[in-house]
Amino acid sequence: MFQADRRDVACLPINLAPPKEQAPSRLVRVPDPDRQDMQFPDIWLRDNCRCEECYLPQTLSRLPQLWNNLDTNVRVLRQSVDVDQEVFFIEWSDGHASQYPFSWLRERDFSPENRERYLSDSYRPEKKLWSGRDFERIRKVFYYEELITCDSKLQEWLHNLAVYGVALIKEAPIEMDVLRKLSNRIGFMRRTTYGDEFSVRAQPGASNYAYLAAPLPLHTDMPYFEYLPGVTMLHTLEQSESPGGVNLLTDAFFVAELMRERYPEQFRVLCQTPVDWADIGSDGDLKFHNIWRAPVINLDAEGRCVRINHSIPQRDSHFSVPLEQVRPWYEAMARFVGMAQEHSCGFKTTPGDVLTFDNLRLVHGRTGYDDTDRNVRHILGAFVDWDIVYSRLRVLRHAASPGGP
Ligand SMILES: [Fe+2]
Ligand SMILES: [Zn+2]
Repeated sequence: MFQADRRDVACLPINLAPPKEQAPSRLVRVPDPDRQDMQFPDIWLRDNCRCEECYLPQTLSRLPQLWNNLDTNVRVLRQSVDVDQEVFFIEWSDGHASQYPFSWLRERDFSPENRERYLSDSYRPEKKLWSGRDFERIRKVFYYEELITCDSKLQEWLHNLAVYGVALIKEAPIEMDVLRKLSNRIGFMRRTTYGDEFSVRAQPGASNYAYLAAPLPLHTDMPYFEYLPGVTMLHTLEQSESPGGVNLLTDAFFVAELMRERYPEQFRVLCQTPVDWADIGSDGDLKFHNIWRAPVINLDAEGRCVRINHSIPQRDSHFSVPLEQVRPWYEAMARFVGMAQEHSCGFKTTPGDVLTFDNLRLVHGRTGYDDTDRNVRHILGAFVDWDIVYSRLRVLRHAASPGGP
């Protein structure tokens, strides 16, 4: 049995070198009369045969039989093209025969341009990173009623949220079901230990630091969850008449990229030092003890930022790393926090506004405020997960252009 040593994992370099010797990739060239020839690895074509033994159209999915005993040395014996029908035929060394429509092949062409097109059109739109000083330029406003009634506006909102990580909705009614209705337009809400929706109102003896009127420093919501809520929605029911209660936002992916460029060693430290995030307590009858151990900056397999964890009150005093990693982490983190403040923007929402933002990417906070007897700042919050948002976005895009993939 293989058991990874946690310390070894934490020491892995960010850019793993590819293996030196790679198996020869046998490529099948498909002539395309309309454009540049396409190329596909033979094993990929065999794996993706469209015949009814290999593929189930009603579920749009591959059947598993081939993998009971996959011959990775399977070869093309003969190939041909029906130019009129635009179909490509292959006879295989395992006795199987396959045919592929050209339109299907074009959609899956391995050329760099096509892979890029697929990733930004169908997978996820490309993110555009911003500094606080650009906020007014990138800030997009939508209106509640148009999001409830119009699919193309809904699509535009979710697209903007994916690209910039923030979008503001105006003119929502001062009612308790606004976030539920918006969530239902996307799919469904994400429930957490604080319920479906949570109310941010200054409370003496609060169960969460956010429920105090003191300044709330920049943070991500709920870093102590492995499955972090993806999109935060904050509906302003009543705003503080005091000068405080100003929302603060920073694109922390922008800050991370700036650190990667200017302070690569501290960037590495924040990518590779696991931190213990925790929330212990209760909400109503539910007692909870949440812990998630992960770095502040989380990268994907290609080295791109995918998630930021940061919340001063919810960073545990347990810090389960070797002694020598502690001080460098504090130095790197102090840099990150300073840069996040430097690149933040501030604005004050008004009643009827719904601020929506990417909780994996942005850090948010607010300045302190004073409630009075007649004026109690009251914000309602809820979450939706990115999987549900991206899925809805693809469905909307497909409905808008049904000829597409
Ligand atoms: Fe928050
Ligand atoms: Zn087949």
